[in-house]
Amino acid sequence: MSDFVTVGAEYDTYSTSGRGRLRHDLVFRRVQAELPERPVRVLDAGCGTGEMTLRLAAAGHLVTATDTSDGMLAAAANRLSTRPELAARVRFLRADVEVLDVNSDTFNLVCCHGVLMYLDEPATAVARLAGMVAPGGVLSVLSKNRSATGFREALRGEHALARGLIESGTGVSVGHLGVRTRGDTAEELDRLATEHGLTPLAWQGVRIFNDHRPRDWAPGPDEYASALETEWAASTRDPYRQVAPLVHTLARHTPDGSSH
Ligand SMILES: C[S@@+](CC[C@H](N)C(=O)[O-])C[C@H]1O[C@@H](n2cnc3c(N)ncnc32)[C@H](O)[C@@H]1O
Repeated sequence: MSDFVTVGAEYDTYSTSGRGRLRHDLVFRRVQAELPERPVRVLDAGCGTGEMTLRLAAAGHLVTATDTSDGMLAAAANRLSTRPELAARVRFLRADVEVLDVNSDTFNLVCCHGVLMYLDEPATAVARLAGMVAPGGVLSVLSKNRSATGFREALRGEHALARGLIESGTGVSVGHLGVRTRGDTAEELDRLATEHGLTPLAWQGVRIFNDHRPRDWAPGPDEYASALETEWAASTRDPYRQVAPLVHTLARHTPDGSSH
């Protein structure tokens, strides 16, 4: 696992770039579509600098936000300090998602976004997270899409690199933060969720058409809004979502599910 202490500031820069905003807006919209109107209990595992934590708290939810990196937790707490009206709805814990146990609590929404790609394999974390979804609740997992390995590099014109990635099919590459990452497929993540008694919902491909944009891509408001709606329209449709760089799977713990 890489040390994320050093990448917190860079991650914030990414989160406010056109590419980062698309990712957060698409994922948040998809998650919100599965949530009730009332405030619910949320676990944000691997919260990073707290983008999703703060969005969910601003929507009225009670968020437990965890991460292994003190630097990321400090950055998230710092952001929260600029929103004092949300402070009572958020608590931070230092915890590894693969051994996470928040006092045997369960949550109506368990998010694990952008974390699995940094782990050696997804099954341990998904098992742990699925066990913390309350009846009727939702597990939301965002990972790198192994099916699209090399697509970004090819669109950027990095042909030799793209070819190597496509031919190897391992799904291992260096992400935008300069950290080595591995990928998962929607089918595999849905299968893991099913193994733990959850029922998969429509999965989403994230940033299909704009992944190859430069890191400093800063579209104006109209261009951004238009790009977002096009991405949203394609995000749950084949074949578009298959080539997205990020795969967002969701699964619900139906009250008659077989787990827990
Ligand atoms: C790319 S950031 C994503 C942050 C946030 N979830 C988001 O979507 O914006 C990945 C985060 O996962 C955290 N992380 C990596 N391995 C972890 C683990 N085993 N348990 C918990 N957090 C982990 C890192 O410290 C980092 O903050």
